[in-house]
Amino acid sequence: MSRAAESVRRYSSFFKKQKALDVLDYGTGTMRNALFMADNGFRVFAADLPEQVEKLRNCPALLHVERLLATDELTNSSLNVDLVLSTYVFNIIMNQEERHHYLKTAVANLKAGGYLLMEVRCRRPETACDVACSDYFGCAECAKTLTHGELDMLLNPFGLKRISHYYRSHAVAAIYQRAHAEEHVRI
Ligand SMILES: C[S@@+](CC[C@H](N)C(=O)[O-])C[C@H]1O[C@@H](n2cnc3c(N)ncnc32)[C@H](O)[C@@H]1O
Repeated sequence: MSRAAESVRRYSSFFKKQKALDVLDYGTGTMRNALFMADNGFRVFAADLPEQVEKLRNCPALLHVERLLATDELTNSSLNVDLVLSTYVFNIIMNQEERHHYLKTAVANLKAGGYLLMEVRCRRPETACDVACSDYFGCAECAKTLTHGELDMLLNPFGLKRISHYYRSHAVAAIYQRAHAEEHVRI
């Protein structure tokens, strides 16, 4: 099993301190983050596309998580978790409607005041892919990267406000907090 994502390892003690112990790993992949969090005392739900869930059916890591869900089951569920993990998922979703659906589902399963940790590939301004590249959705390479400002623009309408972020060589990670009940935003 590969190491958990850098942001998950870096921020897990913060989430422990906040008593954000119920977690949804949304786009769990090989379950590296799910397993790390479960081993560190969090109660973990893992979700992925139906075809990936099928591949995980006999994965030993399943013994450590509360439940594995396919995304179609997640759409109508309300897990009310304290924390949603999303590492290297949002930047590979290229369709804007699918991105909207992904965020809407994440928020629907997150309690008011809960956290979303997002880590995505980031763009390096010094290595612009092409002089003609002005629209990041129009360029195949740039479309798979985001900055924290772009994340803010996409996540703020869902009542998610950034409370921390950092960059490293090829990635940006940010923690967002969902508005408390009295500040709910209509999506
Ligand atoms: C690059 S992998 C990252 C996996 C894991 N989060 C990690 O960091 O190791 C992307 C994962 O996102 C899943 N995925 C893609 N689109 C998704 C969507 N709309 N909803 C949920 N998961 C999705 C893929 O099936 C894949 O398992």
